[in-house]
Amino acid sequence: MRCLGDFFSSSIGRKISVAAAGLLLCCFLITHLAGNLLLLAGEGTFNHYAEVLEANPLLPAAEIGLALIFLLHIMVSLKLKYENRRARPVPYVVQKGKGGRSWGSRAMLVSGLLLLAFLVIHVKTFRFTEHRESLYRHVFDAFQNKVYTLFYVAAMIGLGLHLSHGFQSALRTFGVGHSRAMSAIKRTGLILSAAIAAGFALLPLWFGFMAGGAR
Ligand code: HEM
Repeated sequence: MRCLGDFFSSSIGRKISVAAAGLLLCCFLITHLAGNLLLLAGEGTFNHYAEVLEANPLLPAAEIGLALIFLLHIMVSLKLKYENRRARPVPYVVQKGKGGRSWGSRAMLVSGLLLLAFLVIHVKTFRFTEHRESLYRHVFDAFQNKVYTLFYVAAMIGLGLHLSHGFQSALRTFGVGHSRAMSAIKRTGLILSAAIAAGFALLPLWFGFMAGGAR
């Protein structure tokens, strides 16, 4: 127990836990996206998938585990940010075009807070809903509200930015980022982030603007 306390009170221990939780969340996002893309296959297919998922006796344990991973990632990264600010109130001056910080890196706090707001609204709308007879219809109806749809698209832009830096940063924490393969890792991270964000953004755009008469 004391070992765990020492781990979380050290800066490197906190960085490792944020990175490990971030990578686990990426795995969740990929499976969540794969499941959500079944929305494009129609009401029967998606509702069948949702029913199979809910009938799984391991689901409650998986949901609690997921919530704890989200909490760990959010709380520890905010603590690290606060400590960095306290240690260095005036940020370094970085020259443009000379290996300066990327957009993703600069926007980590803002994109993270946007995603937190998104997550609270999203889980309330889709997980804690009473309209469970047809989850497909519930998703369809939610995206008929254009403000809601555009908020989702903005959040997915935030997600792309957050992942583009987070992925590289996590690998660097685990020492992978110092290898010669860094440029290939960077490219893979960027492609993965863009694919995840675009895949998720496709759904509100589809239901909000394209599938109006397809219900
Ligand atoms: C933008 C497209 C998205 C759509 C259409 C969508 C759809 C859904 C739906 C229908 C559910 C309910 C599943 C069920 O109860 O069986 C759900 C749950 C959830 N979603 Fe999403 N989602 C999207 C993006 C995201 C993103 C980007 C995140 C994370 C940043 C996320 C995190 C979650 C979480 C944590 C749950 C609760 C999981 C659980 O407790 O089982 N979703 N989503």
